Amino acid sequence: MTKNIAVLVSGRGSNLQSIINSIESGYIKSSKISVVISDVEDAYALQRARDHGILDIFIDPLSYTTKQEYERDILTVLKDNSVDLVLLAGYMRLIGKELIAAYSNRIINIHPALLPSFKGLGAQQQAFEYGVKVSGCTVHFVDEGIDTGPIILQRCVPVLDTDTARDLAARILEEEHKIFPEAVKLFVEGKLKVEGRIVVHTLH
Ligand code: GAR
Repeated sequence: MTKNIAVLVSGRGSNLQSIINSIESGYIKSSKISVVISDVEDAYALQRARDHGILDIFIDPLSYTTKQEYERDILTVLKDNSVDLVLLAGYMRLIGKELIAAYSNRIINIHPALLPSFKGLGAQQQAFEYGVKVSGCTVHFVDEGIDTGPIILQRCVPVLDTDTARDLAARILEEEHKIFPEAVKLFVEGKLKVEGRIVVHTLH
């Protein structure tokens, strides 16, 4: 059966694009992006969704008094679209308790550092300023902490002496565009099993 995917975004949407491309090319099979939801009205990611005939919705967090009410409306959209899997592709907000409970081990985030190092915002800059010699990206299930959920895939990149923080971010982004679709493919094929905080990749 086709898996319905929702992608939550806040900005440029290059990771969303990598998922769209991977579905359109047949790399990720039996899946459809049913809806793209943004918390930022003019996020370019919404345009990318429209360009591919995908339902795009802006939900303004500022029009709610509590995060809980805001996320209840997100949950309604997810349920209305029979969403099986939620992807955070550059979505710059923490997910609350209720949403996590409703989609336990079915929310996946891409983070631009090798977790558990450099959690939170500006991870590439944090890594650059720390002076690490390798960095990379992590795809993980989302739990209630900040970038603490079970890790699905990671990929390393070198930090070169000549790099600026932007160079490093660009090198990491290239790998993000590979491992995010890889992780989604594994998920939709039913090849990920979560045991405590360890994600086991099964063959079948
Ligand atoms: C990506 O580098 C993603 O890993 C990062 O934001 C960027 C979004 O780019 N996410 C986070 O930092 C989440 N804490 P995109 O909009 O082009 O996909």
